[in-house]
Amino acid sequence: MTSHPTAAFREDTPRPDRADFQIAPENMGTIVIFGATGDLAGRKLIPAVYNLWEAGFLPNRINVVGVARRDKSDNDFRAEMCEALKVHSRTGHGSDDACQPFVSNLHYHRVNFSESLDLSSLAQRLTEIEEKTGFPHNRLFYLATGSEFFAPIIEELGAAGLICDEDADNWSRVVVEKPFGQDLESALELNDRVSRVLTEDQIFRIDHYLGKETVQNIFAFRFGNAIFEPLFNQKYVDHVQITVAETLGVEGRGEFYDATGALRDVVQNHALQLMCLVAMEPPVEFGAKDIRDEKVKTLRAVQIPRLDPERWIARGQYAEGGGAVGYLSEEGVNPDSQTETYVALRLAIDNWRWAGAPFFIRTGKRLKARGTEIAIQFKQPPFQYFEKLGVTAPEANLLVFRIQPDEAISLTFNAKPPGMDFQIQPVNMDFRYGHTFSQDLPDAYERLLLDALRGDSTLFTRADEIEAAWRLVAAIEEASQRQAPPELYRSGSWGPRAAERLFDVCEGHWRELEAE
Ligand code: BG6
Repeated sequence: MTSHPTAAFREDTPRPDRADFQIAPENMGTIVIFGATGDLAGRKLIPAVYNLWEAGFLPNRINVVGVARRDKSDNDFRAEMCEALKVHSRTGHGSDDACQPFVSNLHYHRVNFSESLDLSSLAQRLTEIEEKTGFPHNRLFYLATGSEFFAPIIEELGAAGLICDEDADNWSRVVVEKPFGQDLESALELNDRVSRVLTEDQIFRIDHYLGKETVQNIFAFRFGNAIFEPLFNQKYVDHVQITVAETLGVEGRGEFYDATGALRDVVQNHALQLMCLVAMEPPVEFGAKDIRDEKVKTLRAVQIPRLDPERWIARGQYAEGGGAVGYLSEEGVNPDSQTETYVALRLAIDNWRWAGAPFFIRTGKRLKARGTEIAIQFKQPPFQYFEKLGVTAPEANLLVFRIQPDEAISLTFNAKPPGMDFQIQPVNMDFRYGHTFSQDLPDAYERLLLDALRGDSTLFTRADEIEAAWRLVAAIEEASQRQAPPELYRSGSWGPRAAERLFDVCEGHWRELEAE
């Protein structure tokens, strides 16, 4: 690993041609965003389409149709999206004039979600737009609405003739935002309803963590390095810590969050996905089927302990602190709520690779620092040899994947500091994305939207994978019902004290992430 900017690429290293990912006009589809007036569309989706378009991955002429219940004209929608681009586009966008060539590709269509949903007018509108712009009848429907609308919209898309057969000349695909179900039962029902309209190849269940560059790099790191992959098992690893820490609170989503909690909001999807990527067996091929097969096996190998839940689950709820209000005073939150805003788990993956090396997972809101990382703590080296030299015990090696912010991979090992005396001191080898690759990292949504337009579902979750994750969460929730209510922790701290107890059975403690 090196962090020299000049050593970014060897000249003779073949690099994938951007053309491999460019979409030809005849293969492009109209992007239809349901929930187009919502936060996600303005903050992430439209900027992602814009950045892909500007970078030349999409043809010059594209069609994006925003669908929502508010009444507005194409021009209103274009003006709003122009403002959103100015604030949220990664590549920056200064003036209205510069925005125009892109936003002239946007259209708006009003649909009433609350009355009986009828998408025949949308079908007609799409055909008109496609005919006027000489576009193929390929369509990517993106559902960025409340989850209660997912199944009705998909059913109505089918009823309005908007979903083609898989062997038709044109394609139809549907991207579904999270949460995919609120629990195991609703996820099973949703999968069942969806499967009556769409084949598994037509449905793209999104988990934006899989689109993050640093998350995809776990594949490259593990399976592209002969010196690391052989170490990823219980023989060398003491334990793994996965942290998804946020400094923000519920940010205007009080009502949703109060019915959801940290376990379902982040562990069920993002954190378990990170666990799968670190723990899974190498897939036979880097393709959707093989990768997802291995992830499902990993999820199924997690054993729910019969122990007292206090020994492997810790839950917390933020109280006020550092000028921030406590969770119970947030708008939309029930003042008597017992919803957890922090959860920490000690999980056991009971297979030959991992039995005996626990996975610690924690996530929480209003913590001291923002950071997502996976820390692989290796076993302590034997000390006898050094002890005789009067040296302090060497620290165990540590490998950290820093997913965000300040994306990096760092390896800590022991070295002798210069001098006559023999001592041992931990030192770091750091690879920092920002230094080595002098280019901006694409946003996760750019990668995932492009993949969906190209029909590649490798970085999306399959039905059985979602169900396996919900099954695990259901078992954790069942155990946590035997626990006391979540412990209050001060906003701006590292969470409840109960979380430290999870380390009672092994050496170690939670890593303290650096504050930004
Ligand atoms: C979302 C959760 O899925 O992920 C949010 O609903 C959370 O509560 C967010 O804040 C974290 O995503 P990121 O990319 O900011 O780490």
